[in-house]
Amino acid sequence: MLMSELIIKKRDGGKLTAEEIKFIVDGYTAGDIPDYQVSAFLMAVFFKGLDREETLQLTMAMRDSGDTLDLSGISGVKADKHSTGGVGDTTSLVLVPMLASLGVKMAKMSGRGLGHTGGTLDKLESFPGFQTGIPHEKFMENVEKVGMVIAGQTADLDPADKKLYALRDVTGTVNSIPLIVSSIMSKKLAAGADIIVLDVKCGKGSFMKTPEDAHELAAEMVEVGKLAGKKTIAVVTDMDQPLGNAVGNALEVKEAIATLKGESAGDLLELCLTLGGCVLKAAGMAETMDEARERLLGTIQDGSALEKLKEFVAAQGGDPRSVEDVSLLPAAPVCRELRAAESGYVQAVDALGIGMICLKLGGGRATKDSTVDLSVGAVMGKRVGDSVQTGDVLATIYSSDEAHAGAAREELLRCFTIGPDAPEKTVFIKEIVE
Ligand code: URA
Ligand code: CA
Repeated sequence: MLMSELIIKKRDGGKLTAEEIKFIVDGYTAGDIPDYQVSAFLMAVFFKGLDREETLQLTMAMRDSGDTLDLSGISGVKADKHSTGGVGDTTSLVLVPMLASLGVKMAKMSGRGLGHTGGTLDKLESFPGFQTGIPHEKFMENVEKVGMVIAGQTADLDPADKKLYALRDVTGTVNSIPLIVSSIMSKKLAAGADIIVLDVKCGKGSFMKTPEDAHELAAEMVEVGKLAGKKTIAVVTDMDQPLGNAVGNALEVKEAIATLKGESAGDLLELCLTLGGCVLKAAGMAETMDEARERLLGTIQDGSALEKLKEFVAAQGGDPRSVEDVSLLPAAPVCRELRAAESGYVQAVDALGIGMICLKLGGGRATKDSTVDLSVGAVMGKRVGDSVQTGDVLATIYSSDEAHAGAAREELLRCFTIGPDAPEKTVFIKEIVE
């Protein structure tokens, strides 16, 4: 087979066979096909697309490019959750303990922050002593005993995606639905869970800007997951403003803990109840969404989800006392309030802008090797639709010094759009695709 012929076939809108797709994925992973040919191929896919069969074959070839995790030796239902990436999104730290406390086994491999979006591994390192890298045997043992693990990759999973993602990042080919579907689903399929729940973000702070695109991405991922033999559900949610009020690693951990203590509600909790409800229904552990929500809320009311978080933190080397006493978590030395200069209603909060501010405060990575300041970020005092009086706190900035806090203040003010009228109410959970 000649790679040049396959590029031409896709360029001209042809349909690739399973064999041809496997040839490309295996050849690229092994280093036999060069970047320039794969770049041309990705661009052809960007413009001509892949049909569902081709997308499925690409996903399977990527899944099989490296190790896959075998969870069949672990008792009970195994589930996994994935988000397409957002701002102030600490869903995993709330949802995973809730489900684990109900007996669903959660074996989750997470990533670090990317650009303006946060990463669960960075957030978890806020717990003093916490280990995100654990050996394979310990990973399996903890899934069985504790019921949950969140860690970095323990094996050589999906090497094809690592190479393809890095190439897409620099060739203008990230934003292609079949390429996003295969990237995400190949990793989820390699990680071995029976139930996969996907949080597809839609809006200014995410990859998919319109509900139509978000729907198409969600539907394609669900179909590919099903064809690969997994129960797959996708929830399309709004990402025009940050999900929670906190943006920044330790700040988001504190919000997750407050949510598990029943002290904080809102979109973050709503999303966890919806995603968790989808898992419980798929697992046959609840008949209806209402029943599922009740069970999930029960884990907050009786304290079992918070207990599970403590157990999990301890099992991965962290200090469980920091769950009870959040003053043991990293705290920024400088804390400044941003107050409203006018009265009205919050029309918009720029999620992307707030993510960038947090990055500049040191809460993300400017380069691959940057160290992250876990303590910094911002906590919003107002959300879209809230009424504001002059002098109300719009947000609080947490910074390492005055200079950074001052710069962040100016930029943060521009992230809030305030107008005289209440904005139209937006629907937060846009759709459940199953
Ligand atoms: N997240 C992924 O893992 N892959 C993509 O292509 C996009 C978002
Ligand atoms: Ca290997």
